[in-house]
Amino acid sequence: MAGLHKAGTARMTATRRRELVPDDRAPAQARRFVAGVVGARHPRLDDAILLTSELVTNSVEHSRSRRMGVAITVIVTLSGQALRVCVIDAGSATWGNHEESDTLMEAGRGLRLVARLARNWGRYPLQSAPEGRVVWFELAQPESR
Ligand SMILES: Nc1ncnc2c1ncn2[C@@H]1O[C@H](COP(=O)(O)OP(=O)(O)OP(=O)(O)O)[C@@H](O)[C@H]1O
Ligand SMILES: [Mg+2]
Repeated sequence: MAGLHKAGTARMTATRRRELVPDDRAPAQARRFVAGVVGARHPRLDDAILLTSELVTNSVEHSRSRRMGVAITVIVTLSGQALRVCVIDAGSATWGNHEESDTLMEAGRGLRLVARLARNWGRYPLQSAPEGRVVWFELAQPESR
């Protein structure tokens, strides 16, 4: 991982994933995980940590994961300086069961931050697990934001 940003002309993509126990420790664990993958010198490090923390907090507070004891999975994909974070939880009966990427009607502070700072974001049901759902965001390099 250390050499990822120094790859020069070779465009490298790295994906790392972590499963978290769905309790109050999960947001801090997710912050540390993302920080470790993205690296201290990444220009969007703070945004990546902040938005991941908001999404994992939402999964703990609002999804069925905690009640059902289903792990929250965080997947970070880094390609050059662009990065995508996916957070997978056990879904909810009332939110995000249809594919729609930018509905902010019901948003609080967390999703508004995601919408403001991310180049793109969205949510979709996980096809392989009817009660699962993915919420994701992408951060661009600063110059192409
Ligand atoms: N992973 C999720 N599972 C189920 N519902 C969610 C999830 N993420 C968001 N929501 C729903 O979307 C709403 C808006 O989320 P948002 O993070 O913007 O605000 P909040 O969590 O209610 O409050 P805040 O983030 O400001 O503390 C939530 O109140 C919840 O109803
Ligand atoms: Mg929230």
